[in-house]
Amino acid sequence: MKQTVTQTVAQQAPAPGRAQFVDLHPAAADMLRLVQEGMARQPRQLPAWLLYDATGSQLFEQICEQPEYGLTRNETQLLEHPASAIAQAVGAHGLGDGGGVVVEFGAGNARKVGPLLQALAPAGYVALDISAEHLQAACDALQSEHPAVPMLGICCDYSALAALPAAPLLALRPRLGFYPGSSLGNFEPVEARRLLGQFRRLLGPGSKLLIGIDQPKPVERLEAAYNDAAGVSAAFARNLLVRLNHDLGGSFDPEAFRYEARWQAEHSRIAMALISERQQSIALAGTTWHFAPGEPLITEYSVKYSPQAFAALATSAGWRQEQSWSDPAGDLSVHLLGQADSASPTGSEQP
Ligand code: AVI
Repeated sequence: MKQTVTQTVAQQAPAPGRAQFVDLHPAAADMLRLVQEGMARQPRQLPAWLLYDATGSQLFEQICEQPEYGLTRNETQLLEHPASAIAQAVGAHGLGDGGGVVVEFGAGNARKVGPLLQALAPAGYVALDISAEHLQAACDALQSEHPAVPMLGICCDYSALAALPAAPLLALRPRLGFYPGSSLGNFEPVEARRLLGQFRRLLGPGSKLLIGIDQPKPVERLEAAYNDAAGVSAAFARNLLVRLNHDLGGSFDPEAFRYEARWQAEHSRIAMALISERQQSIALAGTTWHFAPGEPLITEYSVKYSPQAFAALATSAGWRQEQSWSDPAGDLSVHLLGQADSASPTGSEQP
C-alpha cells in the first residue's frame, strides 16, 4: 500500500547530516498495469520513467557525459551564468530572503540546483525523482554541501503529485519549481501541457517555475546525440528490458532487439525504439506478446521546442513567461514562468 507523505514525513526524522527521504515508488502491480497498457498500444510504447531503475539512472549519467550529448553540459553552463539574474527575478517575490522552498522535479543527480541554492538560500529544498537510490544519494550529497537548507527527497512518479502538498517543507511559500534537463520533452505535448498544469496546482498561486528546454537543431546532431558511438544510449534502452525481466518476471532477450533513434520532423521529436530482430514471443505475468521481425517498442520520445513554441505551451497550461535565456549556440533555452497570486482562470489541465 502506498504511504502518504504526511504519515512518513511525520514518522521519520533524517539521520544527522542526511536529507529526509520518502519512498513512494509505484508498486509492482501498478508497473505491471502500465506495461500491459503500453504493450497493447500500436506501436507498443512504455512509459519513459520505467527506464530509470538504479542501473538506468547510472547509464543516463553516462549519456550526459558523451561528447555527442551536449544538453547537460550546455544547460549547466547556462544555469551557472544567469544565476544572479534568476535570483533577482525570483527574489522579487520573496525567495532569496531566506524564505520559501525550491521544488525540483526529476532531480536525478541534483547537480544543477547548486547555483540556485547558493544564490537564494531558501528555507527548504524538495527533490522529486523516480529513481530511489539515486535520489537519496543525490540529496545526501547536496545536504552536505548546503547543511543550512532542510532537504526532503521524494521518490515518486508524477501520478503522486496531487498527494504531495501535505509535506511540511512543501507548505513553505513562496515556491520555486525547478525542472531542468528538458525532461518535459519526454512527454508527448498533450501530457506535457497536463504536467505543467499539475506543477502549477502543486506549486500554487504566486509560484514560479524555472524550466530547461532543448531546441530543434540539425538532424545529424540530434540523431548523433541519441545514437552515441560508445553505445550508452543503446544500453540505456535495452536496460528497460532487463528491468522488466528482473522486476516483473519478463522473458525478454535484450540482445534480440536493436536500438534506433530517429528524428521525426513532423512531430519535432526524436523517437527512440527497440526493434525486434526476429519473430519472437515475450511472456510476462501470464500474458504473451508476439513481436514480428522489425516491430518497434517505443522506449521514449524526446520532443524539442523552439523558445516560442515552448512559451505557447506554457501559456496554454496557465503559466506566464517572465524571462528566458538561451545558450550562445541557441541549442537550448531556460524559461522563468510565473503564475498570478490568485488562482488563474486559464490553463485548464484538460487536453
Ligand atoms: C531525460 N531526458 C531529457 C533525456 C532526453 O534527452 O530526452 C533522456 C535521454 N534518453 C536518451 N538519451 C537521453
